[in-house]
Amino acid sequence: MAEDFSTAYWEQHWAKAYRDHADAVRERAPNPQLVAVAGDLTPGTALDAGCGHGADAVWLASHGWRVMAVDVSTVALRHAREHAESLGTDVAGRIDWLPADLGTWTPTEEQFDLVSTHYVHGVEPRALFRRLAAAVAPGGTLLIVGHDPSDPHTSHVCAPDVHVTAGQVATLLDPDRWDILVAEARARPATDHHGDRAPAIDAVLCARRHAAASNAEFP
Ligand SMILES: C[S@@+](CC[C@H](N)C(=O)[O-])C[C@H]1O[C@@H](n2cnc3c(N)ncnc32)[C@H](O)[C@@H]1O
Repeated sequence: MAEDFSTAYWEQHWAKAYRDHADAVRERAPNPQLVAVAGDLTPGTALDAGCGHGADAVWLASHGWRVMAVDVSTVALRHAREHAESLGTDVAGRIDWLPADLGTWTPTEEQFDLVSTHYVHGVEPRALFRRLAAAVAPGGTLLIVGHDPSDPHTSHVCAPDVHVTAGQVATLLDPDRWDILVAEARARPATDHHGDRAPAIDAVLCARRHAAASNAEFP
């Protein structure tokens, strides 16, 4: 039977995660695909869509970004905010935590220098990625990371749109206004449920919006 990635599912997922291993969740490292991309960028405004535990938002804020961190789970947002606050106002003061459903929430167009989303599923991906792309400011960067179909950690998940290839995401972007910087499957260090090291395989799409390409020019 297909899994149902509803709001209730994610609330329960995060409640259980923090109940069973809160320290491990709080100590989660930022996503290496994000660090590889954002580490080379000048800090500005960033959207973390589907922020979950908040490790990526915290990393961005710690590196000078002003972050809007969005998630449908109020449980995840509460814990993520508390963690950020424990790191001090330099970090916490740079993050706005916003409860919203990415299936319907539409960010302001051209608002962010970086729009980043990692492993959000349960939302129609093409429409979501188009909305997120429209939120990137001219000259800004879009980073979409999903589970590649070859990923061994998610091969058992039975639900539509859990897997995506970077090539599929790239086809959503108009080549007249985007440069594709990365569109490939990339390995990420991970551990399987036996505790053995087994790299996860991510679909990584990173694109730069042309500096002159505003949404108004390309309706
Ligand atoms: C697999 S987790 C990934 C979390 C984090 N981005 C990471 O890389 O570890 C997916 C996240 O997307 C959030 N999410 C799922 N559906 C959503 C929706 N419709 N609107 C907003 N957030 C959603 C979940 O609550 C969860 O935090």
